[in-house]
Amino acid sequence: TDAQYQQHFDAKIAADTAIEAKDWMPDAYRQNLIRQIGQHAHSEVVGMLPEANWLTRAPTLRRKAVLLAKVQDEAGHGLYLYSAAETLGCSRQEIYRKMLDGKMKYSSIFNYPTLNWADIGVIGWLVDGAAIVNQVALCRASYGPYARAMVKICKEESFHQRQGYEAVMAMANGSEQQKAMLQDAINRFWWPVLMMFGPSDTDSPHSAQSMAWKIKRHSNDELRQKFVDNTVPQLEALGMTAPDAELAWDEAAGHYRFGAIDWSELHEVIKGRGQCNHERLQAKRRAWDDGAWVREGALAHATKNAATAA
Ligand code: ACO
Repeated sequence: TDAQYQQHFDAKIAADTAIEAKDWMPDAYRQNLIRQIGQHAHSEVVGMLPEANWLTRAPTLRRKAVLLAKVQDEAGHGLYLYSAAETLGCSRQEIYRKMLDGKMKYSSIFNYPTLNWADIGVIGWLVDGAAIVNQVALCRASYGPYARAMVKICKEESFHQRQGYEAVMAMANGSEQQKAMLQDAINRFWWPVLMMFGPSDTDSPHSAQSMAWKIKRHSNDELRQKFVDNTVPQLEALGMTAPDAELAWDEAAGHYRFGAIDWSELHEVIKGRGQCNHERLQAKRRAWDDGAWVREGALAHATKNAATAA
């Protein structure tokens, strides 16, 4: 009976046994995973755009080769995640279409422009640094295919974070102009990066249920705090500052305290009114339309091969 299935599912969650694709699961658990994994996959592929903007203008051939590899990795992450979502019974095309139609979200952070080369270093260091903090926790998510995809993604993200830090270190040790560019990039990305972790725990509708299902292992605010604690010493090592006058070490708490986040900005960006929302969706729609002949060709080829094999 359904009650027995539910009991079996609850027991697995309690025992930290992974839920696998063919296992029974409550429909709400399945739908919540499709929502989160789908949004995560879309973030990976939309996230290629701000960095791709600088591929042709990287300052050296080495930086260009590294950035090209990194952007390609993000496409790979999108593929692992779309595959994980497919194990839940939704087609890749269906959820991709929803993203193109503005019916599914992707991370707010990719709606900010990359104005100069320093932004690319800062994205690797801060954006991928934040993604790692969030994704390391997801390596222990209760749904097996999602958790396993996260392990490989986290390994690659660590390379990305280090290439970003290496690029910002070069600028921090460079000319006064390079230092100023870096500080400007940090000033623009700092708050949006803190918003990547989602709304505060008091305003996060999915958290309680996702934590009970062990999809999320830590709350949005816990992960945000962990990121700030990791990052401030790196900021200091660079000789840079955060655009937050209230940022200070709290000895008793063992954490850095930081100022209030402007949640109205996150809500605006999520609603589609960020600086680049329109441009990002336009670029993805154009890529989808321009790629139609590739999909048709691949399908015709596969059909022909199947007929030959038969
Ligand atoms: N950008 C866009 N939407 C967001 C963001 C954000 N930074 N934070 C929260 N939201 C959305 C949620 O998707 C949810 O919307 P929905 O109900 O329409 O689906 C709503 O705001 C409320 O948020 P929560 O209840 O806190 O949602 P959730 O429990 O899903 O937590 C979080 C949000 C932490 C982002 C979670 O979904 C998660 O860990 N996702 C996987 C990681 C990920 O997507 N990373 C992408 C960026 S990293 C990268 O690609 C390099």
